Amino acid sequence: MTSSASTRTGETQTARQKRVWDKSAPSYDNQIAFFEKIWFGGGREWVGERAQGRVLEVAIGTGRNLFHYPADATVTGIELSPAMLAIARQRGASLGRDVDLREGDAEHLPAEDASFDTVVCALSLCTIPGPAAAIGEMKRVLVPGGRLLLLDHIGSTWPPVYVSQWLLEQITIRAAGEHFTRRQLPLVQSAGFQIVETERLKAGTVERIHAVKPA
Ligand SMILES: C[S@@+](CC[C@H](N)C(=O)[O-])C[C@H]1O[C@@H](n2cnc3c(N)ncnc32)[C@H](O)[C@@H]1O
Repeated sequence: MTSSASTRTGETQTARQKRVWDKSAPSYDNQIAFFEKIWFGGGREWVGERAQGRVLEVAIGTGRNLFHYPADATVTGIELSPAMLAIARQRGASLGRDVDLREGDAEHLPAEDASFDTVVCALSLCTIPGPAAAIGEMKRVLVPGGRLLLLDHIGSTWPPVYVSQWLLEQITIRAAGEHFTRRQLPLVQSAGFQIVETERLKAGTVERIHAVKPA
């Protein structure tokens, strides 16, 4: 299904994402801080250690990766939800970091071709309506040889956990467009990226991907 496809209410999936994340923005930092401790620990540091040069973070949310980028990186963030973006703006200012924050859709990135050295997307391809289109856009805006860094939760390698995730997403996909059994690695490979390293953690429910756009 594409982002222009409608939910049962006639709202596009992208419009629903914007509404859902605008509503979640005030409580997001508290909620995700808990999951960062028990589920995604070390993931933001892993991304930050590999990011370099002109960095684009797609679906930057409230800007929680800003703590981890190298001081000499120039950071641009694109985000669908104005309410999430407003918090990212405050975070950038409180860190004294000059961040170019733009409202936009991951599936139609408001950025020039080959204009970034690194593209990051964390905990968002699970909720972006068209992950393949978003990964295609990430490739478009990367320079040849540029780095793609992804961190996300995916379907477990343990069948009982996978089944529980599948059952849970029958509710969360309808309510909030949140998927628990998606996997980004095959999409990254079919988009033509070269895989540099991957790590799968927490019963296979978390994956970190470092890939490059071929030169
Ligand atoms: C779980 S939050 C993750 C935020 C942030 N990346 C982080 O690591 O904390 C998912 C984010 O994806 C954003 N999002 C969903 N669909 C999007 C789209 N099509 N384009 C841009 N951002 C999108 C939401 O607004 C939300 O901020």
